[in-house]
Amino acid sequence: MAILFEQNEFHLYNEWFSYLMRVLPDGSLGQVYCGARLRSSSAYPLLGPVLTPDRDTLPFEYPVTGSGDYRLPACAVRFADGSSVVDPVYKTHRIYNGKAAVEGLPALYVDQESDAATLEIDMVDAVSGLTITLFYTIFEHYPAIIRRSRLCNQGTTPVVLHKALSMSLDLPDSEWIMGTFTGAWTQEFHLVERRFEPGIQAVSSTKGGPGHQQNPFLLLRRPQTGDSTGEAMGLSLIYSGNFLASAETGYRTSARVQMGINPDQFSWTLEPGADFNTPEALLVYSDAGLDSLSHTFHSVFRNHLMRGVWKDRDRPVLLNNWEGTYFNFNEAKLLEMAAAAKDMGIELFVLDDGWFGQRDSDNSSLGDWFPDHRKLPDGIAGLAHKITGMGLSFGLWIEPEMISRVSKLFDAHPDWAVGVPGRPRTEQRQQYVLDMSRPEIVTYLFSILSELLSSAPISYIKWDMNRALTEPYSLDLQPERQGEFFHRYCLGVYDLYGRLTKAFPHILFESCAGGGGRFDPGIMAFAPQGWLSDDTDGFERIRIQTGASLCYPPNSWGSHVSAVPNHQTGRMTSLPFRAIAAFFGNLGFELDPTKLQPEDKKQISIYLDFYKKHRRVFQQGTFTRLRNPDRHDYAAWQVSDASETLVGFFKLLAQPNSGPVYMRLKDLDQAARYNVSVWEPGGYEPNDKAVNCGNRGGDELVRSGLVLDSSYRTKQGDFFAEVFVIERVQEG
Ligand code: GLA
Repeated sequence: MAILFEQNEFHLYNEWFSYLMRVLPDGSLGQVYCGARLRSSSAYPLLGPVLTPDRDTLPFEYPVTGSGDYRLPACAVRFADGSSVVDPVYKTHRIYNGKAAVEGLPALYVDQESDAATLEIDMVDAVSGLTITLFYTIFEHYPAIIRRSRLCNQGTTPVVLHKALSMSLDLPDSEWIMGTFTGAWTQEFHLVERRFEPGIQAVSSTKGGPGHQQNPFLLLRRPQTGDSTGEAMGLSLIYSGNFLASAETGYRTSARVQMGINPDQFSWTLEPGADFNTPEALLVYSDAGLDSLSHTFHSVFRNHLMRGVWKDRDRPVLLNNWEGTYFNFNEAKLLEMAAAAKDMGIELFVLDDGWFGQRDSDNSSLGDWFPDHRKLPDGIAGLAHKITGMGLSFGLWIEPEMISRVSKLFDAHPDWAVGVPGRPRTEQRQQYVLDMSRPEIVTYLFSILSELLSSAPISYIKWDMNRALTEPYSLDLQPERQGEFFHRYCLGVYDLYGRLTKAFPHILFESCAGGGGRFDPGIMAFAPQGWLSDDTDGFERIRIQTGASLCYPPNSWGSHVSAVPNHQTGRMTSLPFRAIAAFFGNLGFELDPTKLQPEDKKQISIYLDFYKKHRRVFQQGTFTRLRNPDRHDYAAWQVSDASETLVGFFKLLAQPNSGPVYMRLKDLDQAARYNVSVWEPGGYEPNDKAVNCGNRGGDELVRSGLVLDSSYRTKQGDFFAEVFVIERVQEG
């Protein structure tokens, strides 16, 4: 890994990846190359842009408006005289080992300075004094760089930012397919792909968070790129507010790809001397297909984004009471459920919505974070002590950013809810949103939540956010600063998360927003796991987890086994199918265990023994998609560490009269030998004979595959699952 500056050219590189920029003769910063490692560490004078009078075709690092580049800019400003022309010119740069934090925003980090090197380039607009600093951090161990920008007003009059993106990338050709996550509530993380076409294609959010319909992630792959071959890039924004990810291609072949805070409804006033930091964008490169791209994302998020004691610790198997009881519970019921959970081997009991105020449905009490003594006579402390006394840990659901119209908090502070004075506020799920851009509200929440968390042995918090923002406006902001509202809201959420995680470092935080409505790397810097979707149907989960795994590692999501018929789809699937789908992640249960048949309880104990024995691999191992569920016959995933590989086979729809399945495994040492066995989860016929189990070469398993005879296509009807355990045979 190195960052060089020679002949006006910057070259950031490591073993796999090179990124080149050049200071052009007019002082602007041109983009030269982004891709597989270029071997010469000296300059590349014949590569990249040559200054032409046509600025509309030059590749720029951080394009601006007003001087002949008519493509999308990375930043747009308005000066006090009403003008908007910016001419940033290279002034100076700094190179150092390690990387800096970003003030007020979550960011990637390195433990050792030798893990990364950073370049900061100052570009100055001489007329206004606006300084744009571009940050580039390259990792030692991954083909990835982190980009962001900082805009500083070094002039004498205010500057208004209307757009300030984290990064812009001008690719020399547009032979790319762009992939984004789309979806809806209970249908998150469905990958949609389209070719770059002339014009602008984008995904963005204006909800105050990413929302279920999109995610701050962009996949670029060559048309021929597959799982194990070909070029691909991924962009991810470390941010939980309104974002934009766009690509523009024009009449020439180049493509401009950008990512950052959504400029729609955004503005920010910089007084003289003030600066604005944009969130970090992570760019990952692969010339070995999508598997390798995902592995890099997983490793970077696990090692350089997740923080705190829970980052590497085994995550507990939990029971969440939501689908088991919804709002209809009392202490006796919860204790009964907890006892049954404990009996089966569950480790953490989580009390979901409905424990506070007078919340018997979703129409009241948000903001009143005090126990409902009708349901919990001894309060949260009493319940938590009873549960921990059983040998379980105790966790709790909160939705701190919200306020119900019917609540004591709203009676006391109606002006704390977001809204425009004189206009009606829109209710969603019968609730309003607290104005998190106001420091006094964040401080209030910190104080009452600290009291709650200190009052009882609570070791897990599920932090929900069940509605999007409407009528964006803050009573604290001057009229000309109302465009700052959304970003300030996000900063307020980060402030509260930061204060609580610092004050209660032992607590495992799980983020949630009606499922995956705010499942993003910004939140992951505080909450190392998130609730991916309210859809707990096993089949749907396979699709959702497959999609999410493109960018996010399995230990970043919770996956729960729920009752059948499934509450979201009405579908019946077998218990092993639901359980094995949920093994690949942080396993939980979301049902009433007192209603389970004795046989199911016994099976669940067996599953839990198996999961706990292999938990390290399921949660922390290298996760690879073997077959995506699109074809509806079967899907398969694999997780491995140095000594074992676990393969989940999910038969989806039974297919009569079909041939055997050749399931080719990945990432095995082809020179090593492995012992292959089928895990028999209880209640099944042992079926070793239908699989080529036994002592097998890594090469056979990778090149030919694990062969499952044709009975696998039909057995047990639809939705059948099994786990194969592949252990490396010790030599000698
Ligand atoms: C959201 C969450 C659910 C549950 C409910 C409670 O929908 O995603 O898991 O916590 O809120 O109201």
